Amino acid sequence: MDAKKLHPDSIAAQALGWVDETTRAITPPLHVSSTYLRDTDNQYRSGRIYARADNPAFDQPEAVLNALEGGHQTLLFASGMAAATAVFQALQPGDHVLAPQVMYWSLRNWLMTFATQWGLQVELIDMTSPAAVQAALRPGKTKLVWVETPANPLWTVTDIEATAALAHAAGALLAVDSTVATPLLTRPLALGADIVMHAATKYLNGHSDLIAGALVTRQDNDHWQRVRKVRAQLGGTLGSFEAWLLLRGMRTLHLRVRTACVSAQRIAEHFSTHPQVAEVLYPGLPQCQGYAISQRQMQGGFGGMLSLRARGGEAAAIAVAAHTQLWKRATSLGGTESLIEHRASVEGAGTPAPTDLLRLSVGIEDVADLINDLEQALATAHR
Ligand SMILES: Cc1ncc(COP(=O)(O)O)c(C=O)c1O
Repeated sequence: MDAKKLHPDSIAAQALGWVDETTRAITPPLHVSSTYLRDTDNQYRSGRIYARADNPAFDQPEAVLNALEGGHQTLLFASGMAAATAVFQALQPGDHVLAPQVMYWSLRNWLMTFATQWGLQVELIDMTSPAAVQAALRPGKTKLVWVETPANPLWTVTDIEATAALAHAAGALLAVDSTVATPLLTRPLALGADIVMHAATKYLNGHSDLIAGALVTRQDNDHWQRVRKVRAQLGGTLGSFEAWLLLRGMRTLHLRVRTACVSAQRIAEHFSTHPQVAEVLYPGLPQCQGYAISQRQMQGGFGGMLSLRARGGEAAAIAVAAHTQLWKRATSLGGTESLIEHRASVEGAGTPAPTDLLRLSVGIEDVADLINDLEQALATAHR
């Protein structure tokens, strides 16, 4: 079957329709071997040597994500952070990189500490402004531009096509953390990005029961070969069981993402005029920064992530989270269950998150139940 002719829903639902050749099973076996037999003439014709570098458990989930993103090759990693840091570790000390001021906080933290100590010149900029990107690029010196869109936790949107053109003109690669958009809403490689990164922990798996990451490349090149070595040598390799679970999760990606998008839009619209809510941040609201770009760049919805700013400041925001019952107070996103989090408490010093901000990950529960629960939490917190 030619995956290029299939709708993404069909690719996901059948996980590309692979059948196990030995048993005719339509779900793959769980491969757990850490090592592979060498041929008697000292060759490794199977292409497999040792499971830190490669594992048959990765073949199908990597192929499914590769088809969904329209990539040249996909690599799974032990976490989203292992995937993201591999992109930077494949650079050289002294290289200049641009990253957004608004991005997943733990990666920003790593960039400003370990990556900087190791010799990368990291500059954080307003990635939503092409003028700021243009001004910060140092042709020949800047090797990578890192984009996250929509970006944690303000859900600002970066124009991938415009940023890719600027990066390429300066001789830099463009990598996009597309965790929140998922391959169903945005395909960064088709817009000119060189690498797409996913915290597969989130929507790709979708059940809050594993930690995983992935990188997809548009083409093979020296940088990608070094990324491969980072995975094989540093050993940020996914476990077999996690790879198997991830494949199972990806089969329902389209159903979960579609439901989350519809519900997030309803929740964003409902609370954007609420007397106890100062502001709603969501790329699907016309008053929000990224709306015009999102309409071009995101297809089929604006994602399942939004933030509410509570009237009454930090104490009011924390009280709202304390009084939710259906929404669970927990970090992370992209699972079937809806989560609520006071983001500044998590990110600490240097966060761009206002102290009154609550980050919401919309799951697949009934949307009226989700709205009612937030309504009662807002009312109780303001009593
Ligand atoms: C947008 C984004 N990128 C990367 C990561 C890191 O992924 P992981 O927790 O799997 O290391 C996260 C985790 O929250 C995230 O939300």
